[in-house]
Amino acid sequence: ERLQREIERTDRAMRVSRPKSEGATEGAATYEPPFILAIESSCDETAAAVIDGGRDVLADCIASQIDFHKRFGGVVPEIASRKHTEAIVPTVMYTMEQAGLGFDDLSAVACTIGPGLVGALVVGVAFAKGLCFATGLPFIGVNHLEGHLYANRYVDPTLEPPFVALLVSGGHTMLVHVRGWGDYEVLGSTLDDAVGEAFDKVAKALELGYPGGPVLSRYAKDGDAKAIAFPRAMMHSGDLRFSLSGLKTAVITYINEQNKAGMSIDIPDLAASFTAAVVDVLVAKSLDACKQTGSRVLCIGGGVAANPDLREALAASLGKRGIRVIMPELSDCADNASMIASVGLDLFEAGERTGLDSDPQAHMPLRTRE
Ligand code: KG4
Ligand code: ZN
Repeated sequence: ERLQREIERTDRAMRVSRPKSEGATEGAATYEPPFILAIESSCDETAAAVIDGGRDVLADCIASQIDFHKRFGGVVPEIASRKHTEAIVPTVMYTMEQAGLGFDDLSAVACTIGPGLVGALVVGVAFAKGLCFATGLPFIGVNHLEGHLYANRYVDPTLEPPFVALLVSGGHTMLVHVRGWGDYEVLGSTLDDAVGEAFDKVAKALELGYPGGPVLSRYAKDGDAKAIAFPRAMMHSGDLRFSLSGLKTAVITYINEQNKAGMSIDIPDLAASFTAAVVDVLVAKSLDACKQTGSRVLCIGGGVAANPDLREALAASLGKRGIRVIMPELSDCADNASMIASVGLDLFEAGERTGLDSDPQAHMPLRTRE
């Protein structure tokens, strides 16, 4: 019953927003086909966007469920699924209205098909397939992580592989050698927790709510990164793999011990020290990955790429060694559909089509040309 009340409360609180589409009508005359509608529903945002053949964004909308998952300290899959079901139609209709297009103006419908929560993915995928079946438009399934990577093309439209990408989100932590668009080699990933997950679990242990990343980075700003010595796991492992669960346990153990001893916890110091432990490893391994592949460019993507300490440390440390660091704007680090549309456009132009009998994939490898 309480859950039901909460659902109703959030129904009213659910918002559709993303002002990037302001120029939609005034610039419309210059937009060139093909027009790609993209849908994203892999986690806790229902998003839709329309881009044109020049990758210009006509509309870009997000219905966020974050307020609803907050009190549970993480995304509750069943709730995510239900919220996507409620939001998908209004979000897509609103996006089309913002773009000033009808479905028959579109060239294809792209949709995140994995990786992510299956119950969440299925909502976007079922909607997109239904729309394609009804209109005869081609359906194009997109990998969510490739979307995060493509967000970098909005920073620098001339960006061309090869380069290294650091993808850090609530579900993934990996270094990828981008040999070409659509040709990815995973150089190393996490053996256990994802970085974003570690932020979320530490915030939960401190009862700071969900998502943990933004709130911890606000506290970290006023803290001393050297106050508490947390482990830098696998820093010198000689490979490009990560492990975050030991750090998470060390932080939670520290919290419990302080509590047991009746000592107060300095949240800014803890947030800064935890962040420093994460950032040190991410920076060191990103540098190693660039050295190993001879890359002079590093891109980042995923929710954690919005972390100010990570951005600053990457720019400073890699910049010093002559490596250019490309970082999506803060709002483009989080889940959105314009990044999915951008991948969809390339797939569409390459003649790739996904069958209407394809199902969402909780785990989905990045594409490779090998
Ligand atoms: O990419 P994303 O929006 O969703 C997934 O694909 O997982 O990433 C969400 C994750 C969450 O774990 C959130 O805590 C983390 O990104 N995050 C941050 C920051 N902003 C979001 N982590 C660290 N610092 C931030 N400023
Ligand atoms: Zn994501």
